[in-house]
Amino acid sequence: MTIMSANMSFDEKIEKLLKYILEGDVVFFGGAGVSTASGMKDFRSEDGLYKEKNKYKDSPETILSKNFFFQHPTEFYQFYREKMNCLPFEPNVIHKVLAELEKRDLLKAVITQNIDNLHQRAGSVNVIELHGTSMKNYCTQCGEPHSIDDVFYGKNKFPKCEKCGGLVRPGITLYDERLDMEKFEQARQALNKAKTCIVAGTSLQVFPAASLISDFYGQNLVILNKEKVANEEWADIICRENMKDVFDALAKKLNINV
Ligand code: OAD
Repeated sequence: MTIMSANMSFDEKIEKLLKYILEGDVVFFGGAGVSTASGMKDFRSEDGLYKEKNKYKDSPETILSKNFFFQHPTEFYQFYREKMNCLPFEPNVIHKVLAELEKRDLLKAVITQNIDNLHQRAGSVNVIELHGTSMKNYCTQCGEPHSIDDVFYGKNKFPKCEKCGGLVRPGITLYDERLDMEKFEQARQALNKAKTCIVAGTSLQVFPAASLISDFYGQNLVILNKEKVANEEWADIICRENMKDVFDALAKKLNINV
């Protein structure tokens, strides 16, 4: 395939994307950029979480690793509560349009690296959360589920199990941990069957999630991202515009009330 969108205007790209969407069998593969329009920070943009100066002496990747979590739970939760609390944020037009496309049976799955639950809150059902979810928290000793409010707003320096006093962890994949292979396989199969894959708001720098794109054998690869990413040479549409503008335009064309 070749890049066909290089000389296309924004409106022409929207028309082409709309055509692909209306053909159905679409899978959406997203990352942190999907939630920036909700006010959340992504990781690797200029003003992303990993670039900003902060008071922590370790890098965010180190803090969000399994070893660090068990060795320094106080520092882990200080960072997690300050930087990764998604509870105050609301789904945006991107989440809402995708939920409606699923209802219309045009979108088959949302594969996301996000842990913020915003797709589900917008109404999406088939959401494959490659990196887990911040909504499900549990004791590392006895497995007892734990309240999310205590995880983000608890009085203790880190949440402890009410049953056994063990350290509570978020149900997210930390660095140095394996992805949930069942979800990975579900994502692989969804991509395998799709006619169109929309890759959006992800730098495609974190593996193995990013490697999933090579399981897409369909006809139309669409990339919606402000910055250049890998695999662009295979894309039929590349859109560097703000994704919010792309989905505002789609909502209008598809008569979706957001
Ligand atoms: P990144 O922060 O690496 O990439 C987000 C991408 O979205 C960047 O390339 C931005 O340019 C783009 N972007 C942001 N807002 C946008 C907008 N409104 N319109 C268009 N593009 C926009 O985030 P991910 O690729 O999701 O893992 O990061 C992958 C993983 O790294 C995360 O799941 C997280 C992190 O470490 C874990 O915590 C395990």
